[in-house]
Amino acid sequence: MTTNSSHAGRVVLVTGAGQGIGAAIARAFVAQGAAVAVLDLDHERAALTADELEAAGGTAIGVAADVADRASLAAALDRVVHRLGTVDILINNAGISPKHDGAPAPIDAMDEAEWRRVVDVNLTGAFLAAKLVVPAMQAKGWGSIVNMSSVAGRTYFPSIGVHYAATKAALIGFTRHLAGDLGPHGITVNAIAPGRIRTPLIASVPAAVNEAAIQATPLRRLGEPIDVATAALWLTSADAGFVTGQVVDVAGGWLMT
Ligand SMILES: NC(=O)c1ccc[n+]([C@@H]2O[C@H](COP(=O)([O-])OP(=O)(O)OC[C@H]3O[C@@H](n4cnc5c(N)ncnc54)[C@H](O)[C@@H]3O)[C@@H](O)[C@H]2O)c1
Repeated sequence: MTTNSSHAGRVVLVTGAGQGIGAAIARAFVAQGAAVAVLDLDHERAALTADELEAAGGTAIGVAADVADRASLAAALDRVVHRLGTVDILINNAGISPKHDGAPAPIDAMDEAEWRRVVDVNLTGAFLAAKLVVPAMQAKGWGSIVNMSSVAGRTYFPSIGVHYAATKAALIGFTRHLAGDLGPHGITVNAIAPGRIRTPLIASVPAAVNEAAIQATPLRRLGEPIDVATAALWLTSADAGFVTGQVVDVAGGWLMT
């Protein structure tokens, strides 16, 4: 692994980092000299990703937790602080987008439990993680939080469910409000709105859905997890120290608003 140092000495917590965008973000931070906690609901995935980063010469630990469960998250954070130190950078990346035979349930067929789980993971998970790490950031007078929204939080896409769209839109409001509250403490809070990114999340839909997305994208390709990871690196770097409350689209020009 080639190691640079834009994030040397930083402790980074990435949720949902066992695969996909989160794993790419973890890799990117480690490559910039950060110590990274790879948090995932899937214990094995978290451990494998952390092992890969350690084997490449980085500092990483795998921690299993459900971001929707305060006690589970708090216990995981205790392990992170014990092993790596207090968290400087939080990437709220864990998210789910339930499908049924490759399609989202329409509202009349969507059961309440599915709605609640999506809200709990995608939105409440970000709230809980931020609530847990912010006190240490405030004490240091520095910190940075990135929330993983989606272009689906900004406009209508029929291929995703109403619960997913609602949570991704809510994360934008969450980001702006928190940026206002935490700015005076030296903490930046931004969101990333990815377009269609090539990860296991989009593998469950019919190929035609992804092809249509490519045709609607001016850059005519799916995004790669690293495209999102580099945006997260920049938003949490000293170079972006005066950037807060923003939503950065990483979508190949799919939605230009
Ligand atoms: N892939 C895309 O096209 C795309 C587009 C826009 C936004 N996003 C967002 O980016 C984020 C990452 O997406 P991805 O494509 O890498 O997804 P993915 O499904 O490939 O990976 C998500 C990871 O999160 C973990 N996870 C799920 N629920 C969790 C929980 N309760 N607690 C902890 N970890 C949990 C999963 O185990 C998995 O390892 C999500 O928030 C997603 O909504 C993805």
